[in-house]
Amino acid sequence: ARITLDQIEDLLSIQHCNLTNLPENYQMKYYLYHALSWPQLTYVAEDHKGRIVGYVLAKLEEEQEKEPLHGHITSVSVMRKYRRLGLAEKLMAQSQRAMHEVFQAKYVSLHVRVSNKAALHLYKDTLHYEIMEIEKKYYADGEDAYSMKLFFDPSA
Ligand code: ACO
Repeated sequence: ARITLDQIEDLLSIQHCNLTNLPENYQMKYYLYHALSWPQLTYVAEDHKGRIVGYVLAKLEEEQEKEPLHGHITSVSVMRKYRRLGLAEKLMAQSQRAMHEVFQAKYVSLHVRVSNKAALHLYKDTLHYEIMEIEKKYYADGEDAYSMKLFFDPSA
């Protein structure tokens, strides 16, 4: 795979958005790893001037023992002024569709803080993810995570 300068610029904007919105941050090499390995799974939302105001960063988990091929949402966030407009739902739906259609993934997984009301509403109520388990002290500050999954319709 090749990455253009425009794409590098987008990855820097995604990183900026992530740093603004979440305490879980990553080195640029981790963004590059996603973009080089699964360019189909990461999407951005732009404002009217083409500035990135939201992203979903996602990957494929291909070599997990006993688990079928599945997608994983590494991170999703939307800048505060652009929230509650349906952007996260749209970003998630685009990545999920590509996981299923391009890679034949069986399901998609993610982790979310148990206190994250907005994200839980998005996953549980809007997108119909199920809570699989609680991972104790998953986050660096000691908070627990819900491990969630959404199984794709095999006939779709
Ligand atoms: N409280 C309750 N419900 C909410 C809230 C909220 N604060 N925000 C959104 N929702 C609901 C919406 O009403 C909508 O519900 P509906 O389908 O019943 O109408 C649904 O969630 C989806 O809303 P969107 O507009 O698509 O979500 P938005 O673009 O506002 O983004 C997000 C949601 C990503 C959670 C945003 O609030 C955000 O960036 N938060 C900070 C970062 C974050 O927590 N990211 C997720 C971390 S977990 C992970 O990355 C895997």
